[in-house]
Amino acid sequence: MSRQVGIGVAGEIEPGQRKRVFVDGRCIVVFNVDGAIYAIDDSCPHNGASLGNGQLEGPVLRCPAHGLRFDLRTGCTPGTGGLSLIKFAVETVDSKLVLNLDEQNAVLTNVTGGNAAGQPEARHCATRQEKQQCKV
Ligand code: FES
Repeated sequence: MSRQVGIGVAGEIEPGQRKRVFVDGRCIVVFNVDGAIYAIDDSCPHNGASLGNGQLEGPVLRCPAHGLRFDLRTGCTPGTGGLSLIKFAVETVDSKLVLNLDEQNAVLTNVTGGNAAGQPEARHCATRQEKQQCKV
């Protein structure tokens, strides 16, 4: 089941800019990369570091903690098909930015909810489609 949440006004995030929003108790970072909008969970799949201040090189985001790189277009580490970000679809509806929270993301929330030690679980590109997308 899909749910939509308004997260701002269309056009408020300029190219090269980013914005943090809080939805259902989770932090989500919204990027504008050359006019394309991407939204990701603000938690690195490696060890949970905040990605909101990561350096962007085109659509590739570098985690500030240990330097892993993630392609915002696919959510995956470029070329390897390894770890994967949690991504959210964003669209413009009536001049508003709307985030789509779907069942898949709800499941991923549980996956990344943490292990017995309270550390975030690593998320890998699990599906065949994701692995193919990771070969960008
Ligand atoms: S926490 Fe992001 S690369 Fe380690």
